[in-house]
Amino acid sequence: MPAQLIPRSLLACLTALCLLLGSALPAGAAYSLPPLPYGAAALEPAIDATTMTLHHDRHHGGYVANLNGLIEANPGLDKLSLEALQAQISSFPLAVRNNGGGHWNHSQFWAVMAPVGEGGAPGADLRAAINRSFGSIEAMQTQFNQAAAGRFGSGWAWLIRKQDGSLAITSTANQDNPLMDLAGIERGTPLIGLDVWEHAYYLNYQNRRADYIKAWWSLLNWNEVNRRYAAAA
Ligand SMILES: [Fe+2]
Repeated sequence: MPAQLIPRSLLACLTALCLLLGSALPAGAAYSLPPLPYGAAALEPAIDATTMTLHHDRHHGGYVANLNGLIEANPGLDKLSLEALQAQISSFPLAVRNNGGGHWNHSQFWAVMAPVGEGGAPGADLRAAINRSFGSIEAMQTQFNQAAAGRFGSGWAWLIRKQDGSLAITSTANQDNPLMDLAGIERGTPLIGLDVWEHAYYLNYQNRRADYIKAWWSLLNWNEVNRRYAAAA
């Protein structure tokens, strides 16, 4: 029936029904993209504004959109916190693992960076823990750099706090992370997580991943690492 032939009162009812149904549905987003805690250009020159914008809006935004799109086919997915999801990821399909991991990994990534000069320094407790496990901060960084540079293809390098309180360097493929209950994952609380996917650096560094890793240390938000260490202890 053409719209002009529908009685005005019925149209009003249909409109009201649509609005009612719309408001009854989940707001569309169990998971949402956190805003960057600084401007897109704030991390230059180590990371350029275009890379930051694409990385945050398109890549991280894509993981969030995809994860929300998986809720209907995975009952209960929207009832879990993002962190709780990581610890139960083995009971979900690969698409949830990839996009749920992508969302968690990138959320921690923005937070563990700060503009040069604003990241503070390692606190006494964290410094002591690093010294116990690696001998020195420089030795930890060397081991971390090797893990980041040595990750074949796409993935992440991590400094984690293990259950026994010691710290370790590890690396995961794709969007996996140390919180996931998966075979082959060295589990622990991530204190530092570095994205070594090409989308994180290719515009500025092309294939020079080692240069990106070296520059990235100037952005480390030690204040956030201190907070994570204290929360995990
Ligand atoms: Fe990324």
